[in-house]
Amino acid sequence: MTGIIRFHETGGPDVLRWESIDLGEPGRGEVRLRHGAVGVNFIDVYERNGLYQKPLPSSLGKEAAGVVEAVGPGVRHFKVGDRVAYAQGAGSYSEARIISADDLVKLPDAIDDQTAAASTLKGLTAQMLLRQVHRVKKGDALLIHAAAGGVGSILVQWARHLGATVIAIVGSAAKADLVRELGAQHALLSDDDWVAQAKAITGGRGVAVAYDSVGKDTFMRSLDTIRARGLMVSYGNASGAPPAISPLELSKRGSLYLTRPTMFHFTSTRQALARAANEVFDLMARGVIKVQIGQTYPLKEAARAHADLEARRTTGSTVLLP
Ligand SMILES: NC(=O)c1ccc[n+]([C@@H]2O[C@H](COP(=O)([O-])OP(=O)(O)OC[C@H]3O[C@@H](n4cnc5c(N)ncnc54)[C@H](OP(=O)(O)O)[C@@H]3O)[C@@H](O)[C@H]2O)c1
Repeated sequence: MTGIIRFHETGGPDVLRWESIDLGEPGRGEVRLRHGAVGVNFIDVYERNGLYQKPLPSSLGKEAAGVVEAVGPGVRHFKVGDRVAYAQGAGSYSEARIISADDLVKLPDAIDDQTAAASTLKGLTAQMLLRQVHRVKKGDALLIHAAAGGVGSILVQWARHLGATVIAIVGSAAKADLVRELGAQHALLSDDDWVAQAKAITGGRGVAVAYDSVGKDTFMRSLDTIRARGLMVSYGNASGAPPAISPLELSKRGSLYLTRPTMFHFTSTRQALARAANEVFDLMARGVIKVQIGQTYPLKEAARAHADLEARRTTGSTVLLP
């Protein structure tokens, strides 16, 4: 039997239950994977609390790394013993699982399971944001919310590597120290007047792109930091869903662009997934991105990990250990 976290009703962290299931054998195109480490992502919170709806009862989690222990018919690219990671589907909060081979990426030897579980979904998200949604150029001024978090800590390092001016926003002085160490030239506190500060840093002009993952509490103010014809990227809802706005709000602030991207739409083919993952793993291997594992928990204590993530007590990535 395999241990797995599931929930039968939506709600707070205490709806998460430790259960046992019989996995069986992989079907056509599938593999059975033994997890070495499991990544926690804010999307898991949205699914658990019902902001993103799922049929119940439901498993949870989109990211993990481990080793292939059985291969179904028709699988061509993977064999028993391969080390792999993935960042989609549902059910990574488990000791082992069955998954489509098309969802997997091979792991380089240099990247251990914990590092991969901390950086596959978050690294692919950073790749989407900095290389596809907007191709960051040297000299671009970028506003990055939740910069000391899982996605944020990768964004800061990668954006600096691309030559951007990083204006990071964080919730505490300790997190400000962390993002400065990661390379942010400016670290602003979310309780301060960061709109005025970001404007001052850019000589009154505004940033080229605002990357906003906080949502409800920050969305309208983020729009106010952007230069004429700049880009607003709303990619998360850590404080709740952003408000509905009229297109006129974009017009009056200087013909802004607004996008709401989701990583899964940028990695929906094997080629797109492999290309983006290679780019992330290459930067990790070269030391450009140093993955920050801020905290680990036993898999069975996923509820405690969620409570800490939601209370803004975490830094970097959070990893569950089966
Ligand atoms: N669109 C996509 O494809 C995609 C993919 C992956 C992740 N995301 C989004 O990216 C964001 C970051 O994900 P993550 O897993 O790396 O989480 P994370 O950034 O490690 O944690 C969330 C952070 O948001 C900040 N925050 C501000 N207000 C908050 C509030 N009211 N409640 C909770 N947190 C608040 C906190 O940092 P401070 O204390 O510094 O403010 C907190 O640490 C999430 O919004 C997630 O949904 C989107």
